[in-house]
Amino acid sequence: MKSAKLLVCNWKAIVTKTSDAKKIVTYISKLSSGVKKNIVVCPPAPFIGLVTLGKLSAGSQTVSNEHAGSTTGKIAAELLNDLKVNYCIVGHSEERARGVLNKTVNEQIQRLLEQKITPIVCLGEVERDMQGEYLKDVSVMINETFANLTIKQIETCIIAYEPVWAIGAKAKRPATLHEAEEAILFIKKNLAHKNKEKVPTVKFLYGGSIDETNASEFYHSPIIDGLLIGRASTSVDAFKSIVKNL
Ligand code: PGA
Repeated sequence: MKSAKLLVCNWKAIVTKTSDAKKIVTYISKLSSGVKKNIVVCPPAPFIGLVTLGKLSAGSQTVSNEHAGSTTGKIAAELLNDLKVNYCIVGHSEERARGVLNKTVNEQIQRLLEQKITPIVCLGEVERDMQGEYLKDVSVMINETFANLTIKQIETCIIAYEPVWAIGAKAKRPATLHEAEEAILFIKKNLAHKNKEKVPTVKFLYGGSIDETNASEFYHSPIIDGLLIGRASTSVDAFKSIVKNL
């Protein structure tokens, strides 16, 4: 792993033992500083302290769309800021499946930007048809998710292209590199429309069934700036084989 691309580890709710969390943090902490600084660990919230204690870059898996206050069960962006969390995943399809709407994701982005935390905004179609209709869904997602945000604010975000059919235990398969690049170029073109046809300088990740067999291909694409890794980031062995092969 030579270049400075990002590896974002989404532990979801898979890592549930402190001892397992410590093992992964210890492994990453021992990597060379050049490699380590490009890894972001997004653990379940109670493990955030463990990640920052290991001097790793921490990300949250979610954030409240509201300001700090009487919202039981939510995590306020103000708290993430105090915990020195640098990144936060928003719009993940597993959250959207629980009813999180584009409008809420838009508000979450605003709360994070107020606290100088980088939003990692997940976008992607549920199904991919042969006629390209799926691009319409992606287009609506972009418009609603980034509504009323300035280009400067959008440029502060990282966008993760995550086709829903490629994510998690129910994934059909990973996207092909061609499918991922095509969708990312489409998102770039869409954002350029908001910016007098100039493509904003946004970083793009690919996520969905990344493992040691396909990580390198996505990682070295000239238009992909990093990977969002779910299941394969939740054990030392699986994550180690990814890092080794980059
Ligand atoms: P997966 O998840 O790597 O387990 O498919 C990706 C993600 O949730 O971002």
